[in-house]
Amino acid sequence: MTTITGIKLNSNPKLQMGTFYVAVWGCQMNVYDADRIRDLMVASGYAEQYVPDGADVVILITCAVRAKAEDKVFNQIAAWRHKGCIDKDTIIALGGCIGSELAQEIVAMDPGISIVFGPRTSHRLPAMVASFRASGENVVDVKADALEKFDALPEQGQRGPSAFVTIMEGCSNHCSYCIVPHTRGDEDSRPEQDILDEVVLHVANGVKEIHLLGQNVNSYRGLASDGSITRLSTLLYDIAAIPGVERLRFTTSNPMEFTDDIIEAIHDLPIIADAIHIPVQSGSDRILSLMRRNYTADSYRTLVAKLRQARPNIYISTDIIVGFPGETDEDFAETMRLVNDIKFDASFSFIYSKRPGTPAAIMEDNIPAEHKKAHLYELQRQLEEYATQYSQEMLGSQQRVLVEGISRKNEHELKGRASNNRIVVFEGDPSLIGSMVDVDIIQVMSHTLKGKLITK
Ligand code: SAH
Ligand code: SF4
Ligand code: F3S
Repeated sequence: MTTITGIKLNSNPKLQMGTFYVAVWGCQMNVYDADRIRDLMVASGYAEQYVPDGADVVILITCAVRAKAEDKVFNQIAAWRHKGCIDKDTIIALGGCIGSELAQEIVAMDPGISIVFGPRTSHRLPAMVASFRASGENVVDVKADALEKFDALPEQGQRGPSAFVTIMEGCSNHCSYCIVPHTRGDEDSRPEQDILDEVVLHVANGVKEIHLLGQNVNSYRGLASDGSITRLSTLLYDIAAIPGVERLRFTTSNPMEFTDDIIEAIHDLPIIADAIHIPVQSGSDRILSLMRRNYTADSYRTLVAKLRQARPNIYISTDIIVGFPGETDEDFAETMRLVNDIKFDASFSFIYSKRPGTPAAIMEDNIPAEHKKAHLYELQRQLEEYATQYSQEMLGSQQRVLVEGISRKNEHELKGRASNNRIVVFEGDPSLIGSMVDVDIIQVMSHTLKGKLITK
């Protein structure tokens, strides 16, 4: 493979099918899918380019979780057309969660979108492009058997020192507000050996950190080689035993299924990072029940206490939805009470977004938008205060940092992540990229920490 002015070319000239560009929105599962699509397109003879201008195929991996996420993609297509980066000859392939959510509707809305695929049919993309090229007919293909995609995709290419590994696809929880079970389908866990093989391959390619992905990883139930069923805790022990894996993360954990065996694994395996993301969504039991989350604010408090006991340094991050249909000031006060009890180390918060076809979409939503915005503002201010406080407490500490690359703001600095997920920048030689180093934290900036490399 050679790179000429930002275009990666296949060395085999017979394999020049054209160029492609990939844009990704949404969660880490989309980032994983996008990387696998890149490998697939390159294996099918396409060369990747890093700007959309003039690409033969523009691939959009989309997110449908909130209305705003959906709008972004269509606004982006309009902007590219307006600027002339893409034109009527560009093959636009829209995939990811909007693909399976809207399917046929997309080409009805915009016939210029040549191909629509879903999270489970990305492995068929080269065939879809070939079909469109041959017939000029739009292709909509969003349905596939459970995990067919993982078997059909080529081996993962070489990337940075941290690698995502999707361990399950879909979600069967059907929280009342959420579109994911509609877009990615019901939960299917990949067989354990497939995951272990992928990890071994990553380690051989120099990867140090493995980040397991799923919408609900705590309910992982993969088939083991002996025909038994492997749970997440066993998978964690088995991956930790692979030589060369230096750090292990997993996302996302639903509080409902955070069982004691997983907490024990976190206690037993120092290789598991000091960071757990456990979306709580609300601190009001009434709202949690309307959301169909199957836990209470108090059971969440107990879970966090157990985790902090198992791993005193653990960093807890969360997601919170504000303004769920019917959420009263009292419900919101309960969320604030929970936030003040837990003092989250990092968090993402969103105003509820109505998703067509979900049970919450037909619940009466009589809270004025301004009221929701005011609540979100109040919540975010408090969350930000705790996140800053957490960073401040890291001042003077020593952190083990996985060096990911050069800092975007200062080319003389390297950038990496501490075990607790905080980004650390420090002066160092680029030859350190890809390795784990020890760093003293010497300054706390708004969302980043500044460190000093400890040389031995
Ligand atoms: N599987 C994860 C969440 C995946 S979606 C879990 O259950 O914890 C990521 C986040 O988007 C959710 O945690 C939730 O906070 C937010 N979200 C999902 N649907 C939403 C909606 N309709 N409106 C606003 N936020 C939403
Ligand atoms: Fe959506 Fe709930 Fe599944 Fe998370 S657990 S993806 S919020 S349905
Ligand atoms: Fe978005 Fe789909 Fe992920 S809706 S959050 S890209 S699972």
